[in-house]
Amino acid sequence: MNPASSPAAATALEIQALRFTWPGAAAATLDIPEFRLTAGERVFLAGPSGSGKSTLLGVIAGTLRPQAGRLAVAGCDSGALSQRRRDRLRADHIGVIFQQFNLLPFLSTLDNVLLAARFSKRRAARAASRDGSPRASALRLLGGLGIGADLLGRAAAQLSVGQQQRVAAARALLGAPELILADEPTSALDADRRDEFINLLLGECADAGTALLFVSHDRGLVPRFDRAVELLGLGREGSP
Ligand SMILES: Nc1ncnc2c1ncn2[C@@H]1O[C@H](COP(=O)(O)OP(=O)(O)OP(=O)(O)O)[C@@H](O)[C@H]1O
Ligand SMILES: [Mg+2]
Repeated sequence: MNPASSPAAATALEIQALRFTWPGAAAATLDIPEFRLTAGERVFLAGPSGSGKSTLLGVIAGTLRPQAGRLAVAGCDSGALSQRRRDRLRADHIGVIFQQFNLLPFLSTLDNVLLAARFSKRRAARAASRDGSPRASALRLLGGLGIGADLLGRAAAQLSVGQQQRVAAARALLGAPELILADEPTSALDADRRDEFINLLLGECADAGTALLFVSHDRGLVPRFDRAVELLGLGREGSP
């Protein structure tokens, strides 16, 4: 069967009957009957502080293991996988932009972006087929995000928080993963940088057919997305 036409290939993320409870918590943090992102779909995820948005991204990324339910990324069911195989699934198919602590502080800007290709032969090959080499992809993405040549060799620890968020975005985009998880990636950006960042992120996702799950409190961004979903806390989900 042609993978591009299979139902699995058309689904970037599939969640069914997912439950996650933090150790010692009285109630489930996440209790999600069903949630699906089709290939290339861009979804804005809102919800009050503490409602479980970052926890959900951690579960999808495979760094947190749910107690129940089904989770599949790019058609690959992560439930039965060892931690090592789940790390591989993330490296090959998911780009992640966290709320903080995105980068290895002692590595340069450029090397932080190239980590995505170092950890995944698949992403290195996809970057090379798009731009000639992973390095050329990294330079294109960093340039598009306003990270100038003077910052390429600088250790990440010596970048501003807004610069670090943009470098993390370039790393997440490198090699066109099927899914990008972004946790308040514009929180440290000024209005101009925010718009530039969103334009590049959405443009790259559209070009590569990458689905995007974007957590933010900035509801002014909602019209830029295909749809918005709200986590209401205590695992409940609804429409904003
Ligand atoms: N490492 C942890 N150990 C135990 N409980 C945690 C941990 N991290 C988060 N929680 C709890 O899980 C719940 C959801 O937290 P989470 O960080 O997912 O919320 P959020 O929606 O991302 O909030 P915010 O908008 O403030 O980033 C909260 O009640 C929080 O206290
Ligand atoms: Mg959070």
